[in-house]
Amino acid sequence: MKIFLDTANLESIKKYNDMGLLDGITTNPSLMSKEGGNPKDAMEEITKIIKGDVSLEVVSTEYSGMMEEGKRLREYGDNVVVKVPMTPDGLKACKSLSSEGIPVNVTLIFSANQALLAAKSGAKYVSPFIGRLDDIGQNGMYLIKEIKEIFSNYDFGTQILVASIRHPIHVIDAAKIGADVVTLPPVVLEKMLKHPLTTIGLENFLADWEKLKQKNPDATI
Ligand code: E4P
Repeated sequence: MKIFLDTANLESIKKYNDMGLLDGITTNPSLMSKEGGNPKDAMEEITKIIKGDVSLEVVSTEYSGMMEEGKRLREYGDNVVVKVPMTPDGLKACKSLSSEGIPVNVTLIFSANQALLAAKSGAKYVSPFIGRLDDIGQNGMYLIKEIKEIFSNYDFGTQILVASIRHPIHVIDAAKIGADVVTLPPVVLEKMLKHPLTTIGLENFLADWEKLKQKNPDATI
């Protein structure tokens, strides 16, 4: 399962990329807005730092605008995946951009039927938003199971990119189902790294090593 970071924050992107944990990045207009500044600079920087796929989202809502923006976004790098919303115009743009060799991530997916239509439109990724479904009392992970079952019956070549992840259990459940990608807010990735027993265990090892050094100052590894 690939791990993407769901942020436009350069500090976080650099931090986790340096740890070798990132297979890609997803952004959206809200994440760009949260960082402030000119999104162009962020887009330029992110596509340089990250080797894997970087999803950059269009803001037009009609086909021709999406096509123009999609092509412009792709100029940031060969790793750019154009993110379009799950709308009739978005699907039309997905089909056209994909047939021109520009990979597309169809976002704001909330049903298996939407995922099916996006896959048939040539999407490289579909992004079901599980946290937002959980928020309204629907089981987001059930949607991932449904999409996985449907995609396994065919040969679309479309990857399931689990989005709107809220906590580490979402990640485990997505991995058990066999989702292709999870995109994580930095706070979730940070939580995945940590366990209190790891922290305590390391403190104890180091304290015991100090005791050994006191008994035998020449001790080394
Ligand atoms: C995915 O591509 C989206 O950017 C993101 O996961 C949305 O998450 P949210 O529901 O936490 O805003």
